[in-house]
Amino acid sequence: MNIPFNSKLPNVKTTIFTVIGKLAAEYNAINLSQGFPNFNTSKELIVLVNSSMLKGNNQYAPMPGIYSLRDAISQKIENLYGVTYNPETEITITAGATQAIFTAIAACIKKDDEVIIFKPAYDCYEPAIELFGGKPVTIQFDPEGFKIDWHKVKKLISAKTKMIIINTPHNPSGRVLSYDDMKQLEALLKNTNILLLSDEVYEHIIFDGEKHQTAALFPVLAERAFITFSFGKTFHNTGWKLGYCIAPAELTKEFRKVHQYNVFSVKQVALTNYIKSPQNYLELSSFYQEKRDLFLSLVKDSRFKFTPSKGTYFQLLNFELITDEYDYDFAVRLIKEKKIASIPVSEFNINNYDSKVLRFCFAKTDDSLKSAADILCNI
Ligand SMILES: Cc1ncc(COP(=O)(O)O)c(C=O)c1O
Repeated sequence: MNIPFNSKLPNVKTTIFTVIGKLAAEYNAINLSQGFPNFNTSKELIVLVNSSMLKGNNQYAPMPGIYSLRDAISQKIENLYGVTYNPETEITITAGATQAIFTAIAACIKKDDEVIIFKPAYDCYEPAIELFGGKPVTIQFDPEGFKIDWHKVKKLISAKTKMIIINTPHNPSGRVLSYDDMKQLEALLKNTNILLLSDEVYEHIIFDGEKHQTAALFPVLAERAFITFSFGKTFHNTGWKLGYCIAPAELTKEFRKVHQYNVFSVKQVALTNYIKSPQNYLELSSFYQEKRDLFLSLVKDSRFKFTPSKGTYFQLLNFELITDEYDYDFAVRLIKEKKIASIPVSEFNINNYDSKVLRFCFAKTDDSLKSAADILCNI
């Protein structure tokens, strides 16, 4: 281009998911990199969507989403957590959690506002903050147990802190924030004007009897929180890009000001009836726990070391007994030479810190997991 152009996001490059996904396709590798299932969404849901579209449900939905769906979400939250979100004023259907996260940040973050983020972090938070002139203030999880040192977090809070972003269950570590973590966060935020963005897209993928501690359960958090969810993650249809955001009425009002000029509304036919059956999401934890256990039983004799993931459909494998290569180089070599694709976690760390772990997605058929494990055991 001949016109001088000053990029608003000079440091943003193509995401690691695109880079690795392209390489995986080129080398015909088993792809355990990007977070999506390689099996189909439920046939019942496809039939419901199909018949709804054939009946003519193909035009704009109302701006905040179809009321019956918001109402069903409200009932689901009430049944699961015993808290009430008003479908009229506190629930908005979005184009996936990504749009919900972007919209919450766009609605709140102004120039020089600081936003605290825990690294490794899902990659869509920082560019959104920077786009609106905000400054990400990052803190690295300890790579061993992915524990949060709340005293360190306290030290990062300044007069400019506008928001804290948390993600539980956490991508990529599979770490689940505990009741104690949430109480410590509550203590930090009490009597402040700091907002919370709680990314809970893996709410229903949680293992070993752990309980999801949604921010909605903690009054000091709930009163300031945008909480984001993803139907794509829950119903094995990430390509439909459907999710929602719940937040107190005052915050939802600001959220919708952006949402209505960003996407306005998203298509969401047939989900209302589907989410009314709790087994459609409550069985997800045992479904994925079986996959995690299968994958880990198959790689336990490999040279990779691991701590079992507690939630999400990701498992970190530590490779320091195999090589001292940089994780990105090792991941690329595994694709080219061994035909298996994973995500190098340094991409999500402060200064691309390399903790010698790769992220593997186990939302795959058992056959894919077996083939992947065969390869991993021979490395
Ligand atoms: C932590 C986290 N948040 C948000 C998203 C985005 O969800 P969606 O596909 O609904 O936009 C993902 C997807 O991988 C994720 O892992």
